[in-house]
Amino acid sequence: MAVIGKKAVKKVTTPKIKQTKLLINNKWVDPVEGGSFKTYNPATGEVIAKVAEASAKDIDLAVKAARKALESGPWATMDAADRGKLMFKLADLIEKNAEELAVLESYNCGKTITDARGDLVGTINTLRYYAGWADKIEGRTVPVRGKFLSYTLRQPVGVIGQIIPWNFPLLMLAWKWGPALACGNTIVLKPAEQTPLTALRVAELAIEAGFPAGVINIVNGFGETAGNALVIHPGVDKIAFTGHVETAKIIQKKAADTLKRTTFELGGKSPNVVFADCDLEQAVEGAFHAIYFHCGQCCTAGSRLFVEQKIQKEFVERLAAKAKQRKVGDPLDESTQQGPQVSQEQLDKILHYVALGQREGAKLVTGGQRKGAKGYFIEPTIFDGVRDEMAIARDEIFGPVVSVLPFKDFDEVVARANDTFYGLAAGVWTKNIDKAHNYAAAVKAGTVWVNCYHIVDTTTPFGGFKMSGQGRENGEEALDHYTETKTVTVNLA
Ligand code: NAI
Ligand code: MG
Repeated sequence: MAVIGKKAVKKVTTPKIKQTKLLINNKWVDPVEGGSFKTYNPATGEVIAKVAEASAKDIDLAVKAARKALESGPWATMDAADRGKLMFKLADLIEKNAEELAVLESYNCGKTITDARGDLVGTINTLRYYAGWADKIEGRTVPVRGKFLSYTLRQPVGVIGQIIPWNFPLLMLAWKWGPALACGNTIVLKPAEQTPLTALRVAELAIEAGFPAGVINIVNGFGETAGNALVIHPGVDKIAFTGHVETAKIIQKKAADTLKRTTFELGGKSPNVVFADCDLEQAVEGAFHAIYFHCGQCCTAGSRLFVEQKIQKEFVERLAAKAKQRKVGDPLDESTQQGPQVSQEQLDKILHYVALGQREGAKLVTGGQRKGAKGYFIEPTIFDGVRDEMAIARDEIFGPVVSVLPFKDFDEVVARANDTFYGLAAGVWTKNIDKAHNYAAAVKAGTVWVNCYHIVDTTTPFGGFKMSGQGRENGEEALDHYTETKTVTVNLA
């Protein structure tokens, strides 16, 4: 969590953009059809660079390069320990350039510089964690019937198409690259069209680290064109995707033609449940962080805040007091607590839900307005007296908007918490240990936080129940999704 106000407030200078092309086969290239698109600074709405736009033709070249690297050349025969060494080297280079990357991330995505620095730590940790795995991915010997020796080999899935979103551009890159590289796969990554810049800079560092040609390819572009071309390409073995549920449905249908492996990390409408027997101070702080961290642009955002009726009034008052004090503004200013939303599109979506919530009869306690005429800023917003059937309680808003839903007892709140097609994360605040563990067992979510929120570490599996995803990222579990298991049986008779 950001610690603000302890050190001198300093203005960080805007970064120089070093790379805007496509990376194919370790060469920075212009797109075959010569396309480009603009990328923006969400704090001002101004264009900061024009970036090369990949079409299906560039995707084809990138996939061919990735396949060649997979099947021949140094990567295919490299010792697993040496793969790990390359990954450690990349992590070191990212660490060496961490401040530059954090500023660039903040500049292109709008997250506060403090949060961006935190993401850099997560990015480096993830790459190091999986670098350590590279030479520990082992098969089994199996006590098979008859005079045979059976053993398993764990081999790379192949060419991995990775499609990532704009909310954590570098961290999502690391979550996808880490296990893919550790297991010996090759990569074609499509960054989000809103935030391509840091992936390009990290790819420069990957070349510097010594990754052989074709192992890592970057294709900037849009979902319906570049993303789609990756999904339908017969040379891609797997798609790893993070983004919207509706996009995942499209991808799964299109991937069916080539029966590609898919893993999905999708959104949520995560229930955060506050019992009256909580530590009130801690729960207010936690519920605040749960929704407002990175402007609510987190798949795990605690956007359904269930508060036990007995403490509802005081809880909402305390939450609102904090919301009113939040410093919203320039993300590169170290004293800023909340930056802009990523885009005009997201700003419009959030304002649409704020209006809808009022029409549905929820009580707007604070916020709800755009802040300033430049950039995509929005006030921290609280709705009280929200009912389960309202759209603001059902849909992922992906902004700094929390719905407070009162409840009376344990069974009721668990049933209501589970009444959604999402199942990514859940929180609970109580000093009663039985209640905490019973909730953790009963709530349908891939991650449950007890008296904390948004604690995500590369060592623990992360992913969704129900329509919040398929498969797991992070932890040992992610390796299962980046290896194929081969059984080898030898006749000993
Ligand atoms: P999106 O799902 O459309 O975009 C995510 C990535 O998928 C981007 O790289 C995009 O170019 C790509 N993509 C889009 N359509 C595609 C297609 N047909 N084939 C292949 N790739 C495609 O999400 P978007 O439009 O940026 O945001 C919309 C909403 O999605 C947000 O308001 C939020 O509710 C949710 N979202 C959830 C995220 C999460 O972390 N789970 C991250 C970003 C958005
Ligand atoms: Mg979209």
